[in-house]
Amino acid sequence: MNELTLDTANVDTGLVRKTRYIVGLLHSDHQVVLVNALEWFFTHNLRDIWSKAADAGIQYDNVDVTVMSLDRIGAPQGESGAKVVLVVYRSTTDGEEYFSPPLVLKIGERRKLDAEFKSKTDFPTVDARFKLRFAIPIALYPDNGTNESLAVLAAPFLSEEGTPKEEFRHKDLWRHLDCEDEFNPAKIARRMGKIEGYINQTTGLMNYIHMDCKGSPVSLNDKRSDSVLYKDAYKWYLWNSGTFQAATYPALFGTESTVDMLGKKWQNPYVAIDKVLSMVHCPAMGFVHGDLHPKNIVIDHAKMVNVIDFGWYYDNAPIVVDYILLDINMRAMTLPTRFLYEDVMKIAAYLHPDHPIASDVADPIQKRMGIILRSLWEPLLDRGAFSKTEWYNEYLIPFFIVAYRHLAFLRSAKNQIALLATVLSACKLLYDTEIIQ
Ligand SMILES: Nc1ncnc2c1ncn2[C@@H]1O[C@H](COP(=O)(O)OP(=O)(O)O)[C@@H](O)[C@H]1O
Ligand SMILES: [Mg+2]
Repeated sequence: MNELTLDTANVDTGLVRKTRYIVGLLHSDHQVVLVNALEWFFTHNLRDIWSKAADAGIQYDNVDVTVMSLDRIGAPQGESGAKVVLVVYRSTTDGEEYFSPPLVLKIGERRKLDAEFKSKTDFPTVDARFKLRFAIPIALYPDNGTNESLAVLAAPFLSEEGTPKEEFRHKDLWRHLDCEDEFNPAKIARRMGKIEGYINQTTGLMNYIHMDCKGSPVSLNDKRSDSVLYKDAYKWYLWNSGTFQAATYPALFGTESTVDMLGKKWQNPYVAIDKVLSMVHCPAMGFVHGDLHPKNIVIDHAKMVNVIDFGWYYDNAPIVVDYILLDINMRAMTLPTRFLYEDVMKIAAYLHPDHPIASDVADPIQKRMGIILRSLWEPLLDRGAFSKTEWYNEYLIPFFIVAYRHLAFLRSAKNQIALLATVLSACKLLYDTEIIQ
């Protein structure tokens, strides 16, 4: 590996000499803030990042730090624009080598990382058994009082830790979904079975958080709110970004009551969205991840799922959002492209647990429908989020809102037709059932 000692020219001396780098890793302003953060975390947060070193009284003078680019170990780029690195502190005290637990450091815009760091305080109290299933932030640099524009957030690395200690691998649900096995008749059952297992683990973990870490016998029904406007329940999600209702939507759908698209005439989602946002529902509310897509679901050496990246969390929002994000990811964002148009339209129109799973579609599409039913919809109903008779208000309208919001990320959808068709079909069903008049 191309390692070198970082040039000490424009950063704090001493410190830098301890940092082993991979060539070309970071811009110089990111390097400076990273190097400062590495010392800061060691001197201010040692018990949280490496308790053994705190117990042993290890001094920073006896420590060096290895910084690895996460993409070098197979991690995909995040969406937020932050630069993410894997860090291990190492001490050679008394001729023995000690390693810290691996950390992920996210270097990025101060404002965003400040908000993400707040999840540490807002997070419900997690039982020790589950603690490392969530990459709850550990520390932030700088802590407060400065007006620097960059910050560094530290969280535990939760993918595969290797032996020797400095070899790591990255596995996530995205990799399983972005795999050609889906088209291999000999492998599809196994692959999709694994995916279903990982999604079940994920919603199981999130359910524990949604229920304030109390576990059974609490039912999500106990967490239901009085009636609340969709526009209030989804405000944090819709208006966080200036892209909502911006030029994208009229450019895509026009402003008439109907729109011609994908060879058909549809009710216009851009018109429908205003109507649904001023309606009310009674969602189960709680701490939500808010960005639960397959790249934020990482898998460790024991094939256990861990949830990372709390950059979009909200401590009091409709919990259904964490299920809907996975639903939209299964049917559109990660759906491969080489399917018959009719098959894509069938998965897009699959929007209610009583809808039959089509038997005349491509195997991967049929399998994905089954996963949506068994690992998202049925658990949500079993956990008491709402009853099936409330499906349209408690699932379909939120689903429509979240799918509509995803159009802002249309270019990241693997199957863009599927995402468009999903929004159009959900909108159509809301009109067909007269939920929207
Ligand atoms: N705690 C972690 N454990 C393992 N991998 C991580 C961890 N945090 C981040 N990563 C990897 O880095 C990528 C980007 O980090 P993330 O926090 O998701 O940033 P963004 O907010 O930009 O999406 C993730 O998709 C994942 O591959
Ligand atoms: Mg992410």
